[in-house]
Amino acid sequence: MLILKEGNTAFTPIRTVPYRLYTDPSVLAVEQEKIFARSWQYVGHTSQVQKSGDYFTCEVAGEPILVIRGKDEELSAFYNVCPHRGTKLEKNEAGHKKILQCGYHGWTFNLDGSLHKAPNFKEADEFCAGEVCLSPIRVETGGSLIFVNLDESAQPLASSYGDFFDSLKEFAFLEGLKKVKVRKREIKANWKAFIDNYLECDHCPIAHPGFVATMDMNQYTIVECENYSVQGSKVKTDQKLGSLELDKAEFQGGQFYWLWPNLMITIYPGPGNMSVIQMIPIDHETTLGVYSLFFRDENLTQEEQDLIKFMEQVRDEDVELVELEQIGFRSRAFKNGMFSPTENGVRQFHNMIRRVLEIEE
Ligand SMILES: [Fe+2]
Repeated sequence: MLILKEGNTAFTPIRTVPYRLYTDPSVLAVEQEKIFARSWQYVGHTSQVQKSGDYFTCEVAGEPILVIRGKDEELSAFYNVCPHRGTKLEKNEAGHKKILQCGYHGWTFNLDGSLHKAPNFKEADEFCAGEVCLSPIRVETGGSLIFVNLDESAQPLASSYGDFFDSLKEFAFLEGLKKVKVRKREIKANWKAFIDNYLECDHCPIAHPGFVATMDMNQYTIVECENYSVQGSKVKTDQKLGSLELDKAEFQGGQFYWLWPNLMITIYPGPGNMSVIQMIPIDHETTLGVYSLFFRDENLTQEEQDLIKFMEQVRDEDVELVELEQIGFRSRAFKNGMFSPTENGVRQFHNMIRRVLEIEE
């Protein structure tokens, strides 16, 4: 693992970014362009598009997107927009199609995005077929996770996050996991506030008594890597997590990854599990948290159900905190915050924000 910096080493106390970046609507417009439209964004799991013609729709940087498995079994992604009048092409969240059809004038498109028929052009068909197609988007997979990037010149996914995808291979159980639940929650805070919260565990002893009762906080580390970070520790093996005796757990640790800019991947102790958590801005002070839970099987065991309860408890404790922060961000009494020696993960995130938004404060 390429370690850029570990917590507590050569600590330089510096200030956070100015929190007007969390309350100013004009900042989100710039972030959509410079951050969300230029980074790899997780959109789904390969199990959602197993067969040729399987598709799902999503939104990235406010753009409607369609991801589909083509006749050649390859994944493609397109702007979900008909080139005739701009109508959103596929309205459903997911489905299976042999051909894509716009509901306005009946234009149809092949699974590779090429025009099939433009009924209202008739004789002009030949001209249109060569000139018109769905606009393609970069799509790549990391393991079974599907990402898109609206930036045509972006670095490939595999080299955008150092050795992250290789390090996931350590967890042999991940390959066999299925997406079993997706929960969505609207959070009344700027998207960056939840990332800040996730990237440090200074608040854990105060906010998460259940979490610190099961994890060995003396061994807790936060390691900064290339465009991502990882934090975690080992469990206290003399403790239980719900009905699960931790000394008998298949995985006796907690690994909490963050990938620039808004993706979190967590692996909790216990039976094979993974959560993929996205923070998607709705507006500058509202965020949609999307929690995709992966387990071995749709029929959850008691231990798996207890683990979900545990994760949701921690999440609720965090949401309450970031919503309280957002109130303070608006106060004239607050401009920049401060980093503690163990908040190196947040410092890394803020430095990236500063660099991308060209902020010198
Ligand atoms: Fe927390």
